[in-house]
Amino acid sequence: MLPINLLKTSTFRLAVLYLGLFAASAIMLLAYVYWNTAGFLVRQTDEAVQAEITGLAEQYAQGGLPLLVHTVIQRSRDPGQSLYLVLDSAGQVLAGNLDVRPSVAPGADGWMDFIYSRRALEGVELKAARARAFYLPEGFYLLVGRDVQERREIESLITSALVWAIALTLALGLIGGLFMSRNMLARVDEINKSSQDIMEGDLSRRLPIAGTGDELDQLGKNLNAMLDQIEALMIGMRQVTDNVAHDLRSPLNRLRNRLEVTLLQESSPEEYRQVLERTIAEADNLLTTFNALLMIARAEAGSLRESMTNIDPAAIVRDAAELYEPVAEENGLGIHLNVQEGLQVRGNRELLSQVLTNLIDNAIKHGKPETASGDIPTIDISVLQERNGRVCFTVADHGSGIPKHERARVLERFVRLETSRNTPGSGLGLSLASAVARLHGGRIDFEDNQPGLKVTLTLPSAVR
Ligand SMILES: Nc1ncnc2c1ncn2[C@@H]1O[C@H](COP(=O)(O)OP(=O)(O)O)[C@@H](O)[C@H]1O
Ligand SMILES: [Mg+2]
Repeated sequence: MLPINLLKTSTFRLAVLYLGLFAASAIMLLAYVYWNTAGFLVRQTDEAVQAEITGLAEQYAQGGLPLLVHTVIQRSRDPGQSLYLVLDSAGQVLAGNLDVRPSVAPGADGWMDFIYSRRALEGVELKAARARAFYLPEGFYLLVGRDVQERREIESLITSALVWAIALTLALGLIGGLFMSRNMLARVDEINKSSQDIMEGDLSRRLPIAGTGDELDQLGKNLNAMLDQIEALMIGMRQVTDNVAHDLRSPLNRLRNRLEVTLLQESSPEEYRQVLERTIAEADNLLTTFNALLMIARAEAGSLRESMTNIDPAAIVRDAAELYEPVAEENGLGIHLNVQEGLQVRGNRELLSQVLTNLIDNAIKHGKPETASGDIPTIDISVLQERNGRVCFTVADHGSGIPKHERARVLERFVRLETSRNTPGSGLGLSLASAVARLHGGRIDFEDNQPGLKVTLTLPSAVR
């Protein structure tokens, strides 16, 4: 991994930005602390010197020069950090613990900072000092001050500690930033690699999830959900193409062959007419199948979700029942309705109507009672709201029903049970019902109607 990439990551930039801000505020804080402590030390020194000057001034006022010189001599015996020097007009040292008068001029505030030498065990020591000087009458000179060597050393100790602290902070922050960005970059790299694989056609691949639950994980999860969706759509598309290839091609071939055979032999106009009529009927069948396939594909694509409106389920059920009443009658069946008024579902009217007509059509085609009884057998159609707000459409008949182990299978495309071989149909009715239920976030369930089949389409309630 090139370091240049590392420096370009947003994590690293953020880390550096934070580091800069943090360092700036730390420096400001430390500077404040430094100036405060150093300032305090200076003030303390100055105050001590000032107190000493006041004391000596009192002595001078009481006993004049002799008492002042006497006091300085006394104090110089045990001076501590204090420095004294008294010179006469000739520059001779009269008293004090300094050897010579410092050669620096006092500053504007009257204070002098200078270096003085002191004999120590190993030769001569140079030390820093701070003092004030006064000229007394008769050309006498008085200097009162304090050794500040120790203070200076403490100051420089604090300074170097602060510099080190700041340098360490910067170094650690920089290393931390690099480390974090490297981690980040490694994960982004993994995501890049996975998406490359996916783009190259491995649609089953998914982006890695680190399990930390951070925004990268969230992004990965969302992208994975999107990939799931895309994969499902692709599979659906492939199925439709396969279906079209297998289940529409053979009937088309058959149709074509029959027409060809008819053309090969001389026939009467009446025979031709019959063949043409059969061809039209078969073409109609093909068209119906084709439309059903397209409808299933549309329902499965999920793009219809935007076009959903609020629908009165009672109206759909009544319309479908009305449409099928004559056909049911023809087949010796009655239709019995039980609709709850004032309900609402959110959905696609066209698809829901188609599903209901499919279910009623099935009940008429496949749900005829095997043994005739006295009364007219009925198809019971109902729409009711459950207590949890979901709306259930039910179509129940008294036919042979669907055995339990076949119930999942009949939802697949083109699946027709052996018992239904002699009824017309393409095996797509329940597939559409299932696809539409999924599109609406609902489900299809089969129950035994004892005897017969009870199909329920459950939709989530429109008002959440
Ligand atoms: N009410 C029913 N009673 C018994 N069997 C049924 C019923 N509805 C559907 N089936 C079975 O499920 C199969 C699939 O139904 P469907 O997908 O609607 O296809 P089609 O009606 O075109 O045969 C039917 O062929 C039939 O065998
Ligand atoms: Mg059907």
